[in-house]
Amino acid sequence: MFKKQDSKLKTPNWNMEHFVIYNPVKLHFGKDVVQGLGKAAAAAGKKALLVYGKGSVKKNGSYQDTLGSLKAAGIEVIEFDGIRPNPVVEDADAAAEEGRRQGADMVVGLGGGSAIDTAKFVAAGIPAGHSVWEFAAGRQKPLKALPLMAVLTLAATGTEMNSFAVIQNNATKKKLGYGHPLMFPRHSFLDPSYTLTVPPDHTAYGIADLVAHSLEAWFGEGEASLTDRFITSIIREAMQYGPRLMNDPKNYELRARIMFAATSALNGLTVQGKKGQDWGVHDIGHALSVLWDIPHGASLSVAYPAWLKLQQERIPERIRELGEALFRNNHTGDTIYKLESFFRLLGSPVSLEEAGINTSDDLALGELLEVMRDNKVSGVVHKLTEDDHRQLIGYMAGNEP
Ligand code: NZQ
Ligand code: ZN
Repeated sequence: MFKKQDSKLKTPNWNMEHFVIYNPVKLHFGKDVVQGLGKAAAAAGKKALLVYGKGSVKKNGSYQDTLGSLKAAGIEVIEFDGIRPNPVVEDADAAAEEGRRQGADMVVGLGGGSAIDTAKFVAAGIPAGHSVWEFAAGRQKPLKALPLMAVLTLAATGTEMNSFAVIQNNATKKKLGYGHPLMFPRHSFLDPSYTLTVPPDHTAYGIADLVAHSLEAWFGEGEASLTDRFITSIIREAMQYGPRLMNDPKNYELRARIMFAATSALNGLTVQGKKGQDWGVHDIGHALSVLWDIPHGASLSVAYPAWLKLQQERIPERIRELGEALFRNNHTGDTIYKLESFFRLLGSPVSLEEAGINTSDDLALGELLEVMRDNKVSGVVHKLTEDDHRQLIGYMAGNEP
């Protein structure tokens, strides 16, 4: 009896989950890799719908390279531009309609997460013929999708190597994520030199996003020590090279390290042996984006410290383990403070006020509470109640536990 208890003390109650790995994305990483796009596209079709944003791609060479490579391979290109950050369902539906009308047989997403996520919905939406919101709302599943290629210009979301996409519906004030194996890009092209033009704010938000993805996995269910090491290695990479990149934004090597880290943070690597990520903080962030159009990464650097403060007494052991791995410090309060300081050091906001929201406006905070309630903001593992929403808003507004 005594012996049994003793050995229990020595062996934590590990619980590694069963898992399946599936990631069919062929990732091309490095300078000038987009030259290979034409060949890859020619194996998939003849007429590409090129989906991109508001024009940054024309200033960093990626548009010219993408078009050049597709045309050299004999691919006809139809363009759909103007995709907004925090992309909206109307744009995705209009792009799908254009692709259908013109007989596109493949989709190429060019840009950051917003352009590529839209391209994913469009690839599934063209054959479906209904609004892509039906997918996001869970009312329809894609039965087929056009082949999809991605050319990434912003290190952040990991969309280039996963099957998820996020879309916003301003009419219903909902921002929803959706994932389906048909929405994996066939090929993704990551040339870090395209990210040299990303301005400081979006560079910081991208780093905040990749750290947030790693943390969502850390707080997911199931314990796999090797996966924990992958997760904390990615965060440490961001902590080591992120601040250096902020001081040296034209450094290709630093851009490359951050781009690789961002892809690795959401391509399946960090959930092996786990049931998945928690996603509670992303849910909070989506509420901030849908209400105030706060950029995705910025919404997460506001929400994460607040979420950790809420969880400090509930899951102290997991926060302590994180502190030990990242900072060699097992004090929960210090760990939260250090993560918050890291976001601040990057220049990503850590409070609603810093994100430009007037927190003395009770109506605004009331509206946030309503959006959080309507969107059923919660994590998968760490469920959030309406009382938690209230407390989280308080922390995001600057209250301390
Ligand atoms: O409009 P353009 O011209 O494209 O300009 C963009 C935009 O203004 C600009 N930009 C992109 N590359 C640039 C550049 N500016 C200069 N030089 C470059 N090389 O940056 C701004 C932000 O772009 P956006 O694509 O919105 O950023 P991000 O990559 O952070 O994507 C955010 C979207 O992805 C979703 C988010 O919710 C948000 O809607 N996410 C997608 C995920 C996924 N599919 O796996 C997971 C994430 O958690 C996230 O939710
Ligand atoms: Zn994210």
